[in-house]
Amino acid sequence: MAFETLLIDISDHVATITINRPDKRNALNGAVRRELVEALDQLRIDDTARVIVITGAGDKAFVAGADITEFAERTPLEQREAMQGRRVFDELASSPKPTIAMINGFALGGGCELALACDMRIATRSARFGQPEIRLGLIPGGGGTQRLPRLIGAGRALRLILTGDLIDAEEAHRIGLVDILVEDGALQARTREIATAIAAHSPVALRLAKEAVAAALEAPLSAGLAQERELFITAFGSDDRREGVAAFLEKRPPEFTGR
Ligand code: COA
Repeated sequence: MAFETLLIDISDHVATITINRPDKRNALNGAVRRELVEALDQLRIDDTARVIVITGAGDKAFVAGADITEFAERTPLEQREAMQGRRVFDELASSPKPTIAMINGFALGGGCELALACDMRIATRSARFGQPEIRLGLIPGGGGTQRLPRLIGAGRALRLILTGDLIDAEEAHRIGLVDILVEDGALQARTREIATAIAAHSPVALRLAKEAVAAALEAPLSAGLAQERELFITAFGSDDRREGVAAFLEKRPPEFTGR
């Protein structure tokens, strides 16, 4: 996989995508968005990648949002065209493989939304979060108005969206925007530890667990519970379930194949 704006590393069943525009604080331009969709497509069918970590290059930013230079000359029609088709936020949110945002600095605007589209957010203490679009006369357009209130509640989401204020990682952790807060310098090691622990589980069960939790956000409770039962039975039919149960009874670690 060779990309202009991304670095991809796959080891120990963990794929790490690094957005590599540190001089521009990893801002999301058209090329980054296109390449992210392509990379996610490739990782979807790559059995060596069981967990996906997404991060930004350098020590300043995860992603400082949409590339604002692209907004300067665009007409609304051109913006509509740019927002049509496959969008990285939705591709990430619908990934069948677990996704982790490893947040090493500013996660603003589209950067915060990219993190919101992941299953989990792990951040260093020096990270900063915000939806500053309002300062540009805009609103979040990468899912922020929908995913942020679902994750942290409407009041807290509106505070960020209406003020454009940045919050520090400690506050983001307290309000549930960050799942795991890590000391500066320990982010990569801690993220890898969590990612490899997840990657050791059955890929089938991971996919079904994600599908079941996604139903919790979309469906009424009774429909979600019915879907959970069906997905549980699907998991029950997998080779990985037979292996997992046998390994427990034989007091040995399981070896999951993803079937
Ligand atoms: N789009 C385009 N370029 C961006 C950018 C963005 N979202 N964020 C940063 N950059 C560029 C800067 O223009 C600058 O480029 P230059 O060196 O060619 O002048 C470079 O990245 C470094 O940015 P700088 O502001 O000098 O770094 P900083 O560390 O002092 O501040 C931020 C970092 C993220 C706080 C600041 O860049 C910022 O506020 N960015 C915009 C955030 C935003 O509003 N995002 C939402 C967009 S909808």
